[in-house]
Amino acid sequence: MQRFYITTPIYYVNAKPHLGHAYTTTVADSLNRFHKLMGEETYFLTGTDEHGDKIVQAAESNGQTPQEYVDVISKLFRDLWPNMNISNNDFIRTTEPRHKAVVQQILQKVYDAGDIYFGEYGGHYCFGCERFYTEKELVDGLCPDHLTKPEYIAEKNYFFKMSKYRDWLLDHINKHPDFIRPERYRNEVVSLLESGELEDLCISRPKSRLTWGIELPFDADYVTYVWFDALINYVAALGWPDGEKFKKFWPAANHMVAKDILKPHAIFWPTMLKAAGIEPYQHLNVHGYWLVEDTKMSKSIGNVVEPLAMKDAYGLDAFRYFLLREMSFGQDSSFSEKALVGRLNADLANDLGNLFNRTLSMTHKYFGGKIPRPDVEDVVDAEIKKIGQDAMQSFQDFFTDLKFSRALEGLWELVRGLNKYIDETAPWALFKEKNTGRLSTVIYVLLENMRKIAVHLWPVMPEASERMLEQLGITFDPEKINLPKELDVWGLLESDAMVAETSNLFPRVDLPEEKAETKAEAKSAKKDKKAAKKDDKTAEPVPEIDFEDFQKLDLRVGTVLEADKHPEADRLLLVKVDTGDKEPRQVVAGLADYFQPDDLVGRQVVVVANLKPRKLRKQLSQGMVLAVKTDNGMELLTPTGAVPPGSKVS
Ligand code: MSP
Repeated sequence: MQRFYITTPIYYVNAKPHLGHAYTTTVADSLNRFHKLMGEETYFLTGTDEHGDKIVQAAESNGQTPQEYVDVISKLFRDLWPNMNISNNDFIRTTEPRHKAVVQQILQKVYDAGDIYFGEYGGHYCFGCERFYTEKELVDGLCPDHLTKPEYIAEKNYFFKMSKYRDWLLDHINKHPDFIRPERYRNEVVSLLESGELEDLCISRPKSRLTWGIELPFDADYVTYVWFDALINYVAALGWPDGEKFKKFWPAANHMVAKDILKPHAIFWPTMLKAAGIEPYQHLNVHGYWLVEDTKMSKSIGNVVEPLAMKDAYGLDAFRYFLLREMSFGQDSSFSEKALVGRLNADLANDLGNLFNRTLSMTHKYFGGKIPRPDVEDVVDAEIKKIGQDAMQSFQDFFTDLKFSRALEGLWELVRGLNKYIDETAPWALFKEKNTGRLSTVIYVLLENMRKIAVHLWPVMPEASERMLEQLGITFDPEKINLPKELDVWGLLESDAMVAETSNLFPRVDLPEEKAETKAEAKSAKKDKKAAKKDDKTAEPVPEIDFEDFQKLDLRVGTVLEADKHPEADRLLLVKVDTGDKEPRQVVAGLADYFQPDDLVGRQVVVVANLKPRKLRKQLSQGMVLAVKTDNGMELLTPTGAVPPGSKVS
């Protein structure tokens, strides 16, 4: 059986968990779940990094001992993960005896092998980074990260002969091109190694300066430097050297980190492993940084995004979906609630949610909620099957390669394909014609595909996926699911099982300020309705008008030149129409729930051209596009043959 071992960085306990930590851990969780469904045996580790100067300082400023302090913050991380549906098998803390013992064993082993020596060292020490900088690395004499003046410290310390392993590491990277991925980070490491000698690594701190660390087994006056301590967690948790888990999972080790800790993971760690006689890990997977409105997240700016606040506002699965869909793995991404809301409404509420709801409600309307037995087939069924196979293949391939965004995009080809399939097969017409044979197949094809989509979504949105399956009458069991097999199997959904009547798994969401506006709008609409009701009693439902009244309307055919999303309202589109005037006119139309902007371009529509211009959510609207709302969506009014733009409707 193939195996998969995934780790996150062990997070420092000098700050509360934020979006960045949540992202890495969510990606690791999704990968862990994905590999499980690919039929592999998986193991998932996260934890906290609790030694070092920074922790001591943070504890002091909190009036606590380091141990008291780390216990509190480590618990914040440990308690957060179940709340985010993170499926880690273990949580390791560097203050645990099981970790300390392995760190000391490895230090002793490397020391005995002659790869650790005692030497005098003078260097520019940055307390923020907890590391020495060479003269060359400083920028105008300042730490390149913190822009503060480092302190010059000369002291005797222990050093790891990292330089000795430079050629071996370069050779290993060359022989295993995907050792560090994506490629840009591999290239970064290769050029760093090729640019010059690899220095030796100072791996101790004298106790006179720092006591909060793991004591060197061969010198009680020193503690271990944080990185030499922290990296070892990845093998300590598996029970190195003889643990069963170590033997099983270490050969399949995948580390997940962001670019900030590339060097320790890509250079310190493999050379440490080599010196300790441990095989290198399989892959180092490196992602970019989440920025908030294009700036770094920071407490002082006050733009730190808290994962649980996002969960509360939008739902956990929606937040998880956004994280994986929005960031191109390896590159930086900008986080904004506006982007999140846009994504959720477009992909989840509109595309997926509508499809699922329509399918369930048709099953109830036409078959009393029972999954029909497929019957008469048509060529469109084979076509949608092929679309499904391609979409699932693309999802699985991209996910394996960490291209999560493209994987989801690939799966959405099937979501969109199914929405089109409904339009093409027109189940409502089949029902009217009493063509039950064909209608049974159409509904079955839709439901079986919904099942396939739901199982593929489990790694990303575990809860929504399980609920979708439940609504399709299936109890979720990861042991029974095998994604590669899904490409070929058909018909796992059992006919005659009952499906849920509706599903509200992916509701539309509003930005906080939009929510307030929508509430106000709803209030005034209620008022209008009340007023209309009052009028109803006295007036005719639709009063008759004279021909002259009708003539007051300037109805024209126009051709849509451009269409875009309204920057501030999800349901509106900005449509530029050529209505025969000198300049095209902009119409703000409530069509976004039914049409993609590109679908409208080139189409002819009927426009009320002499409606008084007004602003809708800050955008000028010069007219109105006529459309008919149906049970299944929205139809545009359009001439049956092309006419010159500006032609009058009379
Ligand atoms: N303790 C070390 C890691 C030791 S691993 C042997 C450490 N801890 S940390 O708390 O600073 O975590 C850094 C990691 O948090 C990043 O590599 C990344 O996984 C995550 N992120 C923190 N901020 C982030 C963003 N703004 N964006 C994306 N991820 C980021 O370094």
